[in-house]
Amino acid sequence: MGRRKAGCGHAHEKCKDGRVTDGDFDVLILGAGSGGYACALRAAQLGLTVGLVEKGNLGGTCLHVGCIPTKALLHAAEVADAARDASKFGVSATLEGIDMAGVNAYKDGVVSRLFKGLTGLVKSRGITVIEGEGRLTGPRTVTVGGATYTGKSVVLASGSYSRSLPGLELDGERVISSEHALRLDRVPSSVIVLGGGVIGCEFASVWASFGAQVTILEALPRLVAAEDEASSKALERAFRKRKIDFRTATPFQSVKTTDTGVAVTVEGGDIIEAELLLVAVGRGPLTDGLGYEEQGVAMERGFVLADERCRTNVEGVFAVGDIVPGLQLAHRGFQQGIFVAEEIAGLDPKPIDEAGIPRVTYSHPEIASVGLDEAKAREAYGDRVTTVTYDLGGNGKSQILQTSGFVKLVGLEDGPVLGVHMVGDRVGELIGEAQLIYSWEAHADDVAPLVHAHPTQNEALGEAHLALAGKALHAHS
Ligand code: NAI
Repeated sequence: MGRRKAGCGHAHEKCKDGRVTDGDFDVLILGAGSGGYACALRAAQLGLTVGLVEKGNLGGTCLHVGCIPTKALLHAAEVADAARDASKFGVSATLEGIDMAGVNAYKDGVVSRLFKGLTGLVKSRGITVIEGEGRLTGPRTVTVGGATYTGKSVVLASGSYSRSLPGLELDGERVISSEHALRLDRVPSSVIVLGGGVIGCEFASVWASFGAQVTILEALPRLVAAEDEASSKALERAFRKRKIDFRTATPFQSVKTTDTGVAVTVEGGDIIEAELLLVAVGRGPLTDGLGYEEQGVAMERGFVLADERCRTNVEGVFAVGDIVPGLQLAHRGFQQGIFVAEEIAGLDPKPIDEAGIPRVTYSHPEIASVGLDEAKAREAYGDRVTTVTYDLGGNGKSQILQTSGFVKLVGLEDGPVLGVHMVGDRVGELIGEAQLIYSWEAHADDVAPLVHAHPTQNEALGEAHLALAGKALHAHS
């Protein structure tokens, strides 16, 4: 097994019903992003034959134009902040500037090392990679170029693209998507970020650290509106301090390009000018023209509908990742891919709890959460919901790092922890423990006696659980 160029003239094989195809597999996967490649690796590990169709590069959005390169930019931004703020720690250093060529070389180096590793891994598992754009031409048939492949099971994992708004065209120069932003060869002097969701806030954070003047426009009343309201408020406070301008409850109306950049008109008539406009209003499912609908796969607004076992309405056809309504996160797709491989292999895996999927926004400061936010918990459980908020001001390591924020717990009276919400630099690294607490349905009393290493930010999680259990240690009574 190895790589195949679609329609490259290799020997055809006859499948059981007599049709001639270019390859028959136990599992045929359309798309090699986080969902598709994870499914391929696990299926191969379980002894199934796997065909993996990909028109771009193994690893998809996350590895090439998503999670990995953006987090590399955010790390470079952190280094810039550390240099700029060095005197706060008694260190003499000055930030002389940002060499974007150097930043991009570092970022691209990270991506290419991971890409090389993934390519080697896929090869070592005997997975057949079929290069080219696949189309579902039968319920279990994918056509790639002139070649046709079949699978006993087919997994749709074609991912997502950067959406825009009606009439708002991305020209890649002045009006850009996050993919264009990742390829910028300069730090813009000023940027308008359309959309104060995850992508918008992460890029706003990077550019502010690199010295750009940033304005975020958000239609909803708060930034990162999918998070607990307290997290939004804390991020807004931190962004204000960092001189990141943001306008909430401010829907976009139109944009004109000017000699020096863009002029954006918002509802109400205000005009804001900047060198660039980043459009970060969400990602759409990449399903158009791939033959899903023609083959009878149930869809809604371009998304593929799948049940909790990732099954579509068509027998033997599964769907994973960003094309399935829900959180568009790499690790969700990843876990769905593993789930489907195990399902196909007959291991009867446990369905994924969507609320148990951890969420991290890697801005400065970070936001991390798992489980229900306070509003959703109150909708579900009313007055039985209790909350505690532990301020990072009392956490030694956070003080050493000079970061502020909190750990907020949403709990059920005499019941488990329903949600954990955190804000502060590096709190993304705390989400693992929070996730275990939520997923194991731990009560505050279960967590309170556990010893947390000192001094770590983890201690803040421990303290918050002590407080929820009614025995707060570092708190004034
Ligand atoms: P998003 O849905 O998080 O945010 C888009 C924002 O744009 C929303 O707040 C929305 O209200 C706003 N918006 C939409 N139309 C508008 C208008 N006309 N005027 C003003 N504001 C408007 O989508 P985003 O940030 O583009 O990210 C896409 C997906 O990628 C998300 O599902 C996100 O979870 C995922 N992602 C995850 C990351 C992470 O886990 N760290 C990083 C980056 C993306």
